[in-house]
Formats: sequence, C-alpha cells, structure tokens
Amino acid sequence: MQKAFAIIGVSLLVWAAIPVLAQENPISELPKIAPEAESDVKAVGAALQEQLIELQNLALQAKQAHWNVSGNLFYPLHELLQEHYEGYSGYADRASERMLSIGVASDGRAGTVVKTAQMPVIPGGFIDDAEVIRFFIDDLKLVGDRTRQRIRDTEDLDPTSANLLQEVEYILGQYQWQYRAHAQSTPTDNQNGSELNQENGTPLYQREQ
Ligand SMILES: [Fe+2]
Repeated sequence: MQKAFAIIGVSLLVWAAIPVLAQENPISELPKIAPEAESDVKAVGAALQEQLIELQNLALQAKQAHWNVSGNLFYPLHELLQEHYEGYSGYADRASERMLSIGVASDGRAGTVVKTAQMPVIPGGFIDDAEVIRFFIDDLKLVGDRTRQRIRDTEDLDPTSANLLQEVEYILGQYQWQYRAHAQSTPTDNQNGSELNQENGTPLYQREQ
C-alpha cells in the first residue's frame, strides 16, 4: 500500500514538474512558410515567445496602473495607460500569431507570464502618478533593450519576424517617451518627475515594494 502511495506521489511530482520542464514550444510537422532549419525556427520562436510574455506582462501592469493611479495626473495617465494596454495586447497577439505562422505553438498562460517574464512588479494598492511614470520609464527601457537584442538575433534567420519586432520596438520607444516627457527637465523647469509628489523629500516612487 505504501509503495502504491509512493508511486502516486512520484507521479504527481513528475506531473507537477511538466510545465516547468516544458520550456520548448512544440513545432508543427506540417508544411509551413518558415526558416528551413529547425534550429532557426526554434530560435525565432523563442525570441517571439519572450516578446509575447513581456508584452502580456506590460499589459497587465498597465491595467493595474490604469485602475489605481492617483494624484494630479490621474486622468491623463488613466487614459494613456488604457491606450498603452491596448497597444501591448495588440502586439502580444501579433507576436503570438507570428509564432503560429512559422509553426511554433505559443504559450501565453498566466503561469508562464509570471514564471518567465523576469520584469519588476508594479506596487499594489493606490499608486502615485509620479511612481507610475518612473515605473514605466524603467520597465519600458528594460523591455525595449531586450527587444532590440531580439531584432539583432532574428534579422538574418527570419526577416519577417524581425520586422514585427522592429514595430514592437517602435511602439515601446514611443510609449517610453510619453512617460519620459512628464519627467524631462527643460531650461525653464528643472523637473525630474519626482517633485510631483514627495514625502519628507523622498520621491514616492523610491518606496519599498
Ligand atoms: Fe478602464
């Protein structure tokens, strides 16, 4: 009896480990318009999978901020975040469907986003407008730089996928500028965004998460 329980226990452990071990997305055996070498298809699929997960992550964080942003800039940021959410979601869809077009299954499950995105998490609760601005300036810089690297990694293997990644980089750059403009110092205003709201001289966006 104990042996039976042990076998069931080991089986459950193996079953539980499958999602973690299944790092490689399955590839279709059917004819497809894609790079000839399977290793190239895998490399491009992996780049698009990473992009998909990061865009899904950005979409979730943008919605969280859209709902909870507080302060004088509530309304313009609420609107901007909604626009960005729709942009991230749209490009996540395109990254995913490009994967399928070259024959690679995509993985956009919530657990995969949490486990693989490797991005900072936006603070919970009410979030200050200045904190939202600083968070997305940094988060978009991170994802934008990774996207630039993926363009370099894929441009010779699959120019069509690299072109899509260029479009993603374009929009991430535009979104990042739209936050950066809130914090940009000018000859007549030496602001850095932190003065929007401070607590004892410490910008709120530097608080512990
Ligand atoms: Fe809304």
